[in-house]
Amino acid sequence: MLPEALPEIAEADLERFFQIMQAQFGYDFRGYAPASLKRRLGTVLKRYGLKDLHALNQRLLAQPDYGERFISEITVSTTELFRDPSAWVAFRLQALPLFAQAPHLRIWHVGASTGEEVLSMAILLKETGLYERAHLYATDIDTYSLAQAQRARYPLRLKNLYQQNFAAVLPGVPWQRYVKEEGNEMVFDPALLERVRFLKHNIVSEAPFASFEVVVCRNLLIYFTPALQDQVVTRLVDSLMPGGILMIGTKESLFWCAAAKRLVAVNETERIYRRRSL
Ligand SMILES: C[S@@+](CC[C@H](N)C(=O)[O-])C[C@H]1O[C@@H](n2cnc3c(N)ncnc32)[C@H](O)[C@@H]1O
Repeated sequence: MLPEALPEIAEADLERFFQIMQAQFGYDFRGYAPASLKRRLGTVLKRYGLKDLHALNQRLLAQPDYGERFISEITVSTTELFRDPSAWVAFRLQALPLFAQAPHLRIWHVGASTGEEVLSMAILLKETGLYERAHLYATDIDTYSLAQAQRARYPLRLKNLYQQNFAAVLPGVPWQRYVKEEGNEMVFDPALLERVRFLKHNIVSEAPFASFEVVVCRNLLIYFTPALQDQVVTRLVDSLMPGGILMIGTKESLFWCAAAKRLVAVNETERIYRRRSL
């Protein structure tokens, strides 16, 4: 059986949508890749039984309180603990040793979603003895995801996948060192979040933070047009100290990004790069 078609998105309504999001909520969605944005909009329309984007635009105008919830509905929050384990193994073996002697290690997770990525980093830092020197920042535009991230509790149905990834990155390390079970949830050790700050931040429109040893921005660039990827990657590289590490998603590319000239590959397959010194 074919899946039910999503409602069509008319270009004029899309333009109006961009205007409303910018004027009413301060979000610029023009640089998001049109195909996936339209798909997400179609899913939201279907969920609320709205017949077209015009109706959603009316709702956004009439109910300003709906804005934050809508951001959560329109963004893709898919994530995992140690997503793409081989990338984390490479990060552990090829990137972390560069900071073994560093007095501090400032790490920024851009598009941190529900927090599994920053927990993965915190676990690696604990295991390599670097956690006490670290300052971790986890940012996202979706306040609902950030609230979930701060709880560090996830449904037990994800346990097999998360535990497998964990074992692939940290063979021999007991899972129970960091995770216990309560009811139908996995509960991560709250000590992992002691050095993490969660902040709402829009990488498209807000000034970036500065002077990081590591910036992790995985599986977010893929939702942007090539032009926006170019702008965002420039911001990410500007945020790094010379010699700092940038990690992007393994399905992402710096192909369209002028700032790639300021990076050298540490591991091209796993998309781990280092900012040149000059
Ligand atoms: C697919 S998730 C990736 C999560 C995690 N980095 C990973 O790779 O598993 C993309 C995240 O980027 C966030 N996001 C989308 N647009 C953003 C923006 N302009 N600024 C910051 N975060 C954004 C979404 O809310 C979502 O949580």
